[in-house]
Amino acid sequence: MERVVREAPAKLNLRLLVGPRRADGYHDIRSLMVALDGLADTVTLTRAPERSIHCSGVASADNLAGRALDVLEQEVGRALPCAITIIKRIPLQAGLGGGSSDAAATLVAADELFALGLSHDRLEALAATLGSDVPFFVRGGCQWAEGRGERLTPAEAPSFMAVIAHPGAGLSTPAVYARFDTLPSPPPTDVTPPPPAMPELAAWVRNDLWPAARSLEPPLERLAADLVAAGALTVLLCGSGSALAGLFTDPPPTDLPLSDPDATIVARVTRPS
Ligand code: C5P
Repeated sequence: MERVVREAPAKLNLRLLVGPRRADGYHDIRSLMVALDGLADTVTLTRAPERSIHCSGVASADNLAGRALDVLEQEVGRALPCAITIIKRIPLQAGLGGGSSDAAATLVAADELFALGLSHDRLEALAATLGSDVPFFVRGGCQWAEGRGERLTPAEAPSFMAVIAHPGAGLSTPAVYARFDTLPSPPPTDVTPPPPAMPELAAWVRNDLWPAARSLEPPLERLAADLVAAGALTVLLCGSGSALAGLFTDPPPTDLPLSDPDATIVARVTRPS
């Protein structure tokens, strides 16, 4: 095989409950994560004499896809030379998991390209060394994520329509968690399963990082208000931000005016598609 092409989808955390900071600096979470149809990067691995990475907007040295290949090379004890090309559609620092998804797609694609035959469990374990969200993207679908995000349990995906909007500026995950640590603890909640569909789902979704994100990026308030004005039943911060998801019961309006000229609509998502 010469080439493997994989879609690397974005994700949405329909619920992100965050506990106190642990001794290792991470936070225990309990999150319902769902892979999104309709917003994905495309990752292509092609056999080549030596490694190269092309990804618009991300320096090759910083690309988590390169680190994914590093851990795979360590695992199998040999070089895995290939050209990695990533067509980026998922915005950076948006909380949509783009970098993690690209890394997971690289792990799975390289396993296939070089016929390494690694088990799914082993790929997930390697993924966990790359970042808390990476194992989720190896699995995909809808999963409850616990621990720092690496312990996964399959779940039924609820139905909803969403508009993903971006305020124009990104947010750094460590910065959002650090701000979270300075704010009052979120109220406790029960661990009820998600309602299968809107509008009940709108009352169930929650993201404990929202107060931290909006204090770091105040324009998010206005963007959230725009989504509500367009008919969203609720607005949810995506992961650690900065993107927002407006959740709708009916197809959202095609003309959705945003007050801030820097803000954009990134995607419209229908689940199931
Ligand atoms: O695991 P990942 O590299 O994506 O995490 C980036 C940063 O986000 C961590 O260094 C930590 O500051 C924060 N984080 C956290 N708790 C989690 C996941 C991430 O505090 N469960």
